Amino acid sequence: MATSLLRRGLVATRIAPSSAKAMSRFVTARLHASEAEAQQVEQKAKPETSMKTFQIYRWNPDNPSKPYLQDYQINLKECGPMVLDALIKIKNEIDPTVTFRRSCREGICGSCAMNIDGCNGLACLTKIQSGSKSTITPLPHMFVIKDLVVDMTNFYNQYKSIEPWLKRKNPPTVPGKEILQSKKERSKLDGMYECILCACCSTSCPSYWWNPESYLGPAALLHANRWISDSRDEYTNERLEAINDEFKLYRCHTILNCARACPKGLNPGKQIINIKSLQLKGGA
Ligand code: SF4
Ligand code: SF4
Ligand code: FES
Repeated sequence: MATSLLRRGLVATRIAPSSAKAMSRFVTARLHASEAEAQQVEQKAKPETSMKTFQIYRWNPDNPSKPYLQDYQINLKECGPMVLDALIKIKNEIDPTVTFRRSCREGICGSCAMNIDGCNGLACLTKIQSGSKSTITPLPHMFVIKDLVVDMTNFYNQYKSIEPWLKRKNPPTVPGKEILQSKKERSKLDGMYECILCACCSTSCPSYWWNPESYLGPAALLHANRWISDSRDEYTNERLEAINDEFKLYRCHTILNCARACPKGLNPGKQIINIKSLQLKGGA
């Protein structure tokens, strides 16, 4: 291809065929030289192995002792790019006892939430960072069931307490038919319906750390606002009344750790502000 390109150039500039042949050899040699140089540079940049240590929190209820961090070394050249890939590799190839939750592997199920190098996030959406060591621990301030698996019972009970389903006082206008919404009404649910209940926000919230049972936390409150904002729901005032409580709602001090932690880019703190302003107005 390089020769044919050169030929096209020669026709345009009318160079003698003998000089052209010599030039062609020169260009081909240059091309080969630069390819070889590029390969050398690439080889220098990418060493044969790229070892990284993952420090993983370990605790086993069947053999209870103090929790500890265990080191596992893996070659990143033989591993996918995400933290969950590293965990799966460690479990499959080094230590099958390492325990963690995962399901969808694409940020939809919310089950692989954990603390990675000090930040809450989904292991399947978090890229393995450069550097020789990463520390992986369970979501903070949660009871640990085993290794990276935490007890979500309190979190789910709080979600259940806000009654996350459509509640009506009147039957649909057309019996058996959907209750319709305008596009504008539907758009009010944006920024809330996308929540996957991973608990990254609630477990990064200092107010939730100190009052995990009495303060509902950012995730449950985001969902409370999701139903408060739904034009089809007819229990708006009752919903507001149910959470109008010094602890359930007003432990939020708008620190906004929750927004920073959310792997779906949601802002629970903003939704809590909306609930508080509706409370001030005395209802919707
Ligand atoms: S804004 Fe409220 S819910 Fe979010 S982290 Fe701060 S105190 Fe917690
Ligand atoms: S708001 Fe974000 S961080 Fe919180 S539970 Fe939902 S998806 Fe997870
Ligand atoms: S495995 Fe489902 S969100 Fe990570």
